[in-house]
Amino acid sequence: MTRASHHPHSIAEFREAARRRLPKFVFDYVDGGSGSESTISENRSALDRLRLLGAAPVDVSDASQRVTLFGQDLSMPLIIGPTGLAGAVWPRGDVDLAKAAAEHGIPFVMSTAATANMEDVIAAGEGSKWFQLYLFRDREVSERMVDRAQALGFCALEVTVDNAIPGRRLRDARNGFSLPFRWTPRKLASCLAHPKWSLQMARAGVPKLELMAAELGLESMDTIAELMQSQLDPSVSWDDIARLRDRWPGPLVVKGVLDPSHVTRAKAVGVDGLVISNHGGRQLDGSVASIDMLPEFRSEAGDALSLLIDSGFRTGSDIARAIALGADAVQVGRATLYALATGGAPAVAAALEVLHREFEIAQMLMGVRRVDEMSPALIRRPLLEPTAANPNLFDPNADTGPRLAISRGGA
Ligand SMILES: Cc1cc2nc3c(=O)[nH]c(=O)nc-3n(C[C@H](O)[C@H](O)[C@H](O)COP(=O)(O)O)c2cc1C
Repeated sequence: MTRASHHPHSIAEFREAARRRLPKFVFDYVDGGSGSESTISENRSALDRLRLLGAAPVDVSDASQRVTLFGQDLSMPLIIGPTGLAGAVWPRGDVDLAKAAAEHGIPFVMSTAATANMEDVIAAGEGSKWFQLYLFRDREVSERMVDRAQALGFCALEVTVDNAIPGRRLRDARNGFSLPFRWTPRKLASCLAHPKWSLQMARAGVPKLELMAAELGLESMDTIAELMQSQLDPSVSWDDIARLRDRWPGPLVVKGVLDPSHVTRAKAVGVDGLVISNHGGRQLDGSVASIDMLPEFRSEAGDALSLLIDSGFRTGSDIARAIALGADAVQVGRATLYALATGGAPAVAAALEVLHREFEIAQMLMGVRRVDEMSPALIRRPLLEPTAANPNLFDPNADTGPRLAISRGGA
């Protein structure tokens, strides 16, 4: 792998570069979470609590990161997940994300809240494109989107279910982040201080939620949260997923689950996969970290479901942690958005190479030749001492055991 040296060397550095390049109200939209943002820090802490076991000496000279997911060959167990309004960080951002994913040999999930149309995303390289669906109050709109996605060749459908009500994103509320952008003296000053972004946007035009605007006839929108609250249906349940199962013949994935007791219903409905996710800390404030729920999900799912996971993944070692605990692949949201903000498709490609290289290093130093040989035996969780004030420390491995044998979801 080669990577232009002028790009940052880690996702943390991409984040810093994005912070410098974007006006505050745009950076905050990407970087922020709901409420106290404690879920964002919990996602990080939970990953850091899991320590990887370096297992040498093992002959790893022929190590490979390739995996098969839903019958497709991936260069590594990574997916660029759905992020709405990517065009606010880089013109035609959705298309650039799709292009970089295709070049890297991993899938790209197009958001319902994309700033590009489906045709342009499909035309962005040969790679595997998935479509993320929100279920609107007007179900016919969602159904039309599903049918178009199928006709255009999206190969998997990912239905997001953790949006019964939008989380309170305080940074967006304080900044008055709305669509179209409403210009206040403070926003204008921030744009003047970030001339590269401002010139680019002046040339490209203010981003629009292409799919939603076309389907819902939206003209002027308030904050994203208000928009979503007015359109998304809080009555969504497994019955709706069952109806989608009848409509969508390809792989069907449900995104935004945290409660392993739903696995039984998921299996009964016939979905192919789940994304264990707290929406990157943007929805339920104070949520459990998704990585902490993974062992229970794998234990419930057996090999009947593919398990994907997101929320807080920033390094190749993070990806290795999830794979070892039973995930089939990891989705990223902000990691590639930060990169997109710094330089479009080439920067996203560079970020994917960083993640790939870091994952390869972790895998080889853990003494693993094939991704599906990674197991919980390679994870150590130093036990915290219970105290009188906190006698029941949450230990997700307590029931499933740290050496739980994994039988992964279908290829
Ligand atoms: C700016 C932004 C926009 C997002 N838009 C969507 C969306 O339209 N649909 C969706 O299902 N998830 C959306 N998400 C959530 C991501 O798919 C993903 O769950 C989350 O970003 C994962 O956490 P991470 O950013 O720490 O990787 C969005 C996330 C961000 C940061």
